[in-house]
Amino acid sequence: MTKPQIRPATGAQYSRIHGVGGYRPVRVIPNAEVLEWIDSSDEWIRTRSGIAERRWAGPEESVAEMSVQAAGKAIAQAGISPEQIGGVIVATVSHLKQTPAIATQIAERLGCGNAPAFDISAACAGFGYGLGLADGMIRGGNAEYVLVIGVERLSDLTDKSDRSTAFIFGDGAGAAIVGPSDTPGIGKLIWGSDGSQADVITQTEAWDTAFAKSDAVNGVGEETKWPYLRMDGQPVFRWAVWEMAKVAQQALDAAGVTADQLGAFIPHQANMRITDAMIKALKLPESVPVARDIAETGNTSAASIPLAMERMLETGEAHSGDLALIIGFGAGLVYAAAVVTLP
Ligand code: UT7
Repeated sequence: MTKPQIRPATGAQYSRIHGVGGYRPVRVIPNAEVLEWIDSSDEWIRTRSGIAERRWAGPEESVAEMSVQAAGKAIAQAGISPEQIGGVIVATVSHLKQTPAIATQIAERLGCGNAPAFDISAACAGFGYGLGLADGMIRGGNAEYVLVIGVERLSDLTDKSDRSTAFIFGDGAGAAIVGPSDTPGIGKLIWGSDGSQADVITQTEAWDTAFAKSDAVNGVGEETKWPYLRMDGQPVFRWAVWEMAKVAQQALDAAGVTADQLGAFIPHQANMRITDAMIKALKLPESVPVARDIAETGNTSAASIPLAMERMLETGEAHSGDLALIIGFGAGLVYAAAVVTLP
């Protein structure tokens, strides 16, 4: 008797990004306001990080609300209806309610029917991780269109008295619709992790530890410590400059694309000096437009790449159909890079 065989699941031959959209909170925090919290200067912040201002979300601008706004724009640009979305992936480290995933509520609000929906925690590489998963879902026949969202309210995790991080983080959401394509639109993802450096960007304490210390629990009046994000900036900076340039080059090589063929370089907006160092290492010609969204947006972790992508397309710095090199890197440590065709 022949063994029963599973019918192969087949999807589209290739995938690409069909639409991108962003949401930036209303409240602008200029460097001058940050200087009310920490001992620093506008000049130091600008020269060391490239940041002039960032956006911080208000109470109404929740992770879900910002995601829905960004996704609506991506869906409109893709020209599809929400019911066609067969997967919702939300990359975030700042949705502070652990269960259930926020993705299901976002899917519900958007009208994505019963689409599978889940959150992923891959910090500043979250958007790239999401793209890789979406690409696999579409080519594997498990979804026709997938919504990938990178969203953060890092202001909730920012210690305003910590001069090494208070000026860096921002809030916002970026979304992309990934769907079938006749030609390759997402190159091989070069992704990975380095858990030996888990402590260089980390929450100060786990929620349970912080809660156990709270007055409410132990009744002895020990100070409750909110588990803010802490970053040991220098090792992260060195890792980003040395290791991530190699990862970016691998993504170019895997896609069979040379730096001069790019229509845009869209690195995670961590620090303008990291971006400049990568440009040098990659020998990127001056003619290639580079995302510098960090100046007005700060570091929005998972949201930074789609937000920067949307801005470059809106301002006309980059064009639909151009090839863009994207690379995300951050807490974990984790990273993900790929060449993509811009929507
Ligand atoms: O998104 C995830 C990935 N994240 C990143 O990739 C971020 C990587 N790291 C960085 O971007 C940078 O390390 C920072 C922007 C966080 C810091 O820049 P840095 O050039 O590495 O500064 P540093 O920590 O080496 O400090 C240099 C000096 C020190 O003074 P001395 O010892 O040279 O006298 C600090 O005390 O700057 C001082 N300093 C400040 N001065 C004014 C540190 N923070 C501040 C501040 N304002 N806010």
